Amino acid sequence: MGLNTYGNISLQNLKCEMLHNPLGIGTTHPRLSWQIVSDTRGVEQQAYQIMVSSTAEKLERGEADLWDSHKVNSDQSVMVSYAGKPLLSRTNCYWKVRVWTNKGASSWSKPAMWTEGLLNQADWKAQWIGCDKGFSWDSVSKFSRLSARYYRKQFDVKAGIKKATVYIAGLGHYELYVNGKHIGDQVLAEPPTDYTQSVKYNTFDVTDNIKQGENAIASILGNGRFFTMRPKYKPKKIKEFGFPKMLLQLEIEYTNGTRQIISSDNSWKFTADGPIRTNNEYDGEEYDATKEFVGWNNIGFNDKAWLNAESVQAPGGRIEAQMNEPIKIMDTIKPVAINQVKPGIWIIDMGQNMAGWVQMKVKGNRGDKITLRYAETLQPNGELYVANLRDAKVTDVYTLKGSDLETWHPVFVYHGFRYLEISGYPGKPELTDLEGHVVYDAIANTGGFETSNELINQIYKNAYWGILSNYKGMPVDCPQRNERMPWLGDRAVGSLGESFVFANGNLYAKWLDDIGESQKPDGAIPDVAPAYWNYYSDNMTWPGTYILVADMLYRQFADEAPIQKHYASMKKWMDYMKRKYMKDNLITKDKYGDWCVPPESPELIHSKDPARNTEGQLIASAYYFHLLGLMQKFAVLLHKPVDAKNFSAQQANTAKAFNQKYLDKKKFQYDNNTVTANLLPLYFGITPPEARQEVFKNIVNKIQDEAKGHISTGVIGTQWLMRGLSEYGRPDLAYRIASNNDYPSWGYMVKHGATTIWELWNGDTANPAMNSHNHIMLLGDLIAWFYQDLAGIKTVDAGFKQIVMNPAAIHDLNSVKASYQTPYGLVKSSWTKNESDFKWHITIPPNSNALVYLPASITSVITESGKAITAIKDIKLMKMENGKAVFRVGSGNYDFEVKN
Ligand code: BGC
Repeated sequence: MGLNTYGNISLQNLKCEMLHNPLGIGTTHPRLSWQIVSDTRGVEQQAYQIMVSSTAEKLERGEADLWDSHKVNSDQSVMVSYAGKPLLSRTNCYWKVRVWTNKGASSWSKPAMWTEGLLNQADWKAQWIGCDKGFSWDSVSKFSRLSARYYRKQFDVKAGIKKATVYIAGLGHYELYVNGKHIGDQVLAEPPTDYTQSVKYNTFDVTDNIKQGENAIASILGNGRFFTMRPKYKPKKIKEFGFPKMLLQLEIEYTNGTRQIISSDNSWKFTADGPIRTNNEYDGEEYDATKEFVGWNNIGFNDKAWLNAESVQAPGGRIEAQMNEPIKIMDTIKPVAINQVKPGIWIIDMGQNMAGWVQMKVKGNRGDKITLRYAETLQPNGELYVANLRDAKVTDVYTLKGSDLETWHPVFVYHGFRYLEISGYPGKPELTDLEGHVVYDAIANTGGFETSNELINQIYKNAYWGILSNYKGMPVDCPQRNERMPWLGDRAVGSLGESFVFANGNLYAKWLDDIGESQKPDGAIPDVAPAYWNYYSDNMTWPGTYILVADMLYRQFADEAPIQKHYASMKKWMDYMKRKYMKDNLITKDKYGDWCVPPESPELIHSKDPARNTEGQLIASAYYFHLLGLMQKFAVLLHKPVDAKNFSAQQANTAKAFNQKYLDKKKFQYDNNTVTANLLPLYFGITPPEARQEVFKNIVNKIQDEAKGHISTGVIGTQWLMRGLSEYGRPDLAYRIASNNDYPSWGYMVKHGATTIWELWNGDTANPAMNSHNHIMLLGDLIAWFYQDLAGIKTVDAGFKQIVMNPAAIHDLNSVKASYQTPYGLVKSSWTKNESDFKWHITIPPNSNALVYLPASITSVITESGKAITAIKDIKLMKMENGKAVFRVGSGNYDFEVKN
């Protein structure tokens, strides 16, 4: 321990733009974050020093040739902007940090690094290459079949390689090889965008893969979203981008300071007549191993019969570094059962609805064909149930080459499934021949949540699987049927709950860029973005996600950049909706209503009962009011006082008009008195203070008397329900709704075998036309409520610098154990209770602090680590409020006990 170090202060988790050691970033003022580690209580950072050097050696020597921040008196440890020498394309940045705290100083952190990518379009010397036609075996029609394209190039390298870097944009998907070696562990790269607006590229360090003398670089291009799944079909609805294409630049730096660039151009060779015969995200992948060409991606391969690559038009969008995590195989699962339903037809149960693929091992004769089909559920006779996949064929075909053991999985498609059907397998497939690969964005699982209620735990687990299944470089609605679209409305509030479970900050920031790029010149924002499907239907609830998610990123991750970047577009959209649809201060246009309320009869998708549905204009106007509030907050944050004033004035006018039109001042109910109709104005703050308790009573009565303690809301109402009930003092009612297992409820899904969350409350009985078993939109605010109210972990404002720890007291719930990795470090909340006593262990990360709410009306019943709380000088009583004693604590571990 150093002389001035009291409490063992060290640093960990150095991140640049919320990424660990990213290569090829696209910003010149990246934001750096670190976490302080200490077992001492009350640690607060008082100053920091950052050093950034152009080589690891210089950094080691303390030679900060790019930036020495010197000692900065500041408590900021999250998202500190680089402010050194201007950064140029390809700059290597090695950095370290040290801090001074009120409990001593740290020594220098371990070094971390980032590299700058190609920052200017002019850095690209490469040409786009591709081939703008299909071949005789392809079919460019509704059910498109387009084989993968194989590209290769050989080149000479001199001695003295210092560094070799590949920059690649391969549309829709690519696999990259250098000298026969597969580069990177990303799959389904790169992330989908509207390619006419932006195209992402990836950076790889291939220094160790390049050697002096002859080398080969190669790639395979798959279709992804670029060559759409349904071309020449509904052209007004489905956007097409053309045939796969690639831009690639390999830059070799020599020790003598010279550089060599190998880039994509028409000196490359290509063929489309390889083993991947078709790859279509909806319909599946077909791989014919008899068509493999051994050594094609290495030197010495005879490519005389291959065609010359053609240079083609650029896709149109800006070429940008990918700043969100790539998709990877994140988990593997073993199947649990196999059953022969007909001779030679096997059904395999993965035991879990998931998204990804199955890796298969097989031995057989050359030319044997194995067919794999996927589904979420089975028919009563044990065969696959595929009606709810609509026209997606979800069929992979593997043709054996007939060597030894062959191992295969598709690479350019994924499937959403629990069950797999195998036919044509030589002999009987054993469970050990099959392995599920769970495929989603490589983001950390940041939350843990467990209670004494097993049903709640299973609902949480289903949500966890539902969330990860639907991350594919953008959030999609479902992974299985012919849809998989980034619908905005599904994520409005769900994204907040998700952010406790996964570090989805970069993913959602990327998605906001997609949404921004989809804005029309007049200001319209679509319901699906990227707008692969053309739905500009103009409503508040789906496009409003643009604003809600920006707020989520700010609160959960302290990421202010999306607000800065998108503020103008958000404002433009708000103005557009006002200009086009505002009448008497209310918004008159809606599209989806309270989408998917529990319907009156089991086979219905949408309820036809006016008493269950909430009026569209009411929903639109309430959301407008709420979004105005967020815009006002953003305007204040960005120092735009005039805007702030205007938003707030409009809010007041809208509230007034809303109450005039919809509030029955005698019955204190809004419009037709649905839970949603009352909840939106109440929770958003439209309801006048004197009417709030009465309106709330109507909500409670509706739930208790009519719905018998069940959910009666759809996608819209459910976004605010659990937190709304808790905020107005009835977390027990929220808990009752959450712990039901009869219809309609999340528990009903569990009871009926769900391992994910359904699209419909009646997912087991409804019409298959719209009935996915792996949607997350009905979660509403459930997951946020689990963390914020049951565990009681909530940020006050940006990024958990200040935390409120306030678990709801629920009679029937005996314990909750939760943890969450905030930008500052791990927060824990773990409580147990019985009739006489409430025990609560919490952890607050260094450099943050918390207001802690303990269920006690006098302080003398509270101890911490066995001592009277009033005797502990670092724990300050702030107030007594609603039966709770509220203390302020600094970072550290605390063990509270309250005796009744
Ligand atoms: C999607 C939903 C989406 C909705 C809106 C459905 O087909 O699956 O997730 O929000 O349409 O129309």
